[in-house]
Amino acid sequence: MILQGKTAIVTGASRGIGEAIARAFAKEGANVVICGRKQETLDAVAATIPGAVLPVACHVGRAADIQRLIETATAKFGQVDILVNNAATNIAQEPVLQIDEAKFDKMVEVNLKSAFRLMQAVAPGMCERGWGSIVNIASISGLRPQNYGMLYSMTKAALIMMTQSYALELGPKGVRVNAICPGLVQTALSEYYWKDEDKLAKQMRTQPVQHLGQPDEIAGLAVLLASDRGSYITGQAIVADGGRMLASL
Ligand SMILES: NC(=O)c1ccc[n+]([C@@H]2O[C@H](COP(=O)([O-])OP(=O)(O)OC[C@H]3O[C@@H](n4cnc5c(N)ncnc54)[C@H](OP(=O)(O)O)[C@@H]3O)[C@@H](O)[C@H]2O)c1
Repeated sequence: MILQGKTAIVTGASRGIGEAIARAFAKEGANVVICGRKQETLDAVAATIPGAVLPVACHVGRAADIQRLIETATAKFGQVDILVNNAATNIAQEPVLQIDEAKFDKMVEVNLKSAFRLMQAVAPGMCERGWGSIVNIASISGLRPQNYGMLYSMTKAALIMMTQSYALELGPKGVRVNAICPGLVQTALSEYYWKDEDKLAKQMRTQPVQHLGQPDEIAGLAVLLASDRGSYITGQAIVADGGRMLASL
């Protein structure tokens, strides 16, 4: 129970990696506020997680929704100690020359500005209390460009730099900020890469750990970073990709 007494917000926790992180946090004793866009889906997920779980519908691309999320979390649990910026989208898997401005703005709003808004909202309280941990879910696509994935890679690369910048300034106030860079993990977001057997086999040919990553394998790392077990770690972008990036060396 290494997160006993802490309150965490996990965005995009109605399925996939965010849901696994919320479950792992609750198992470690944290109060967990989960968000996604649909209240019914969140209610259904919350009902399956033992512990203090508060489902709050919130579109992370909307400032008013984020404000409501923070207010609801604070009204219920008093404060926010841990923030996981996990919600993200990928609406523009296409050649760079086809990308239009509307997609650029939307990707920045959902994948990047959301993290900025949430960190701006919760970090002051963390600094005042002298303890906080922020975990931003980036991607190995934020470390290497992906064909037809410019906007996704760009937002993840920027999220890593945001992580390092906040870590530098907030560290002296007791707040650690880290990023996790998953490789391929079996979720709805990435199904294009693993549903088809041939595509999956191609992925696995260059991956030393010979299984498709599971959300729980990212959640364990999030627990480490969120808790005092990770007390000497800040400003890092930790890769969890089964060794896939080694293939590019
Ligand atoms: N899966 C991978 O291979 C992989 C690899 C590297 C990095 N990642 C990163 O891991 C994180 C989680 O991805 P995942 O694979 O678990 O995806 P996923 O299964 O598609 O889950 C995404 C979650 O985010 C929520 N969400 C999407 N748009 C939202 C919005 N505008 N506002 C609030 N919630 C929103 C979704 O709920 P609703 O749709 O109900 O709103 C859902 O709960 C993302 O940051 C992703 O970039 C994933």
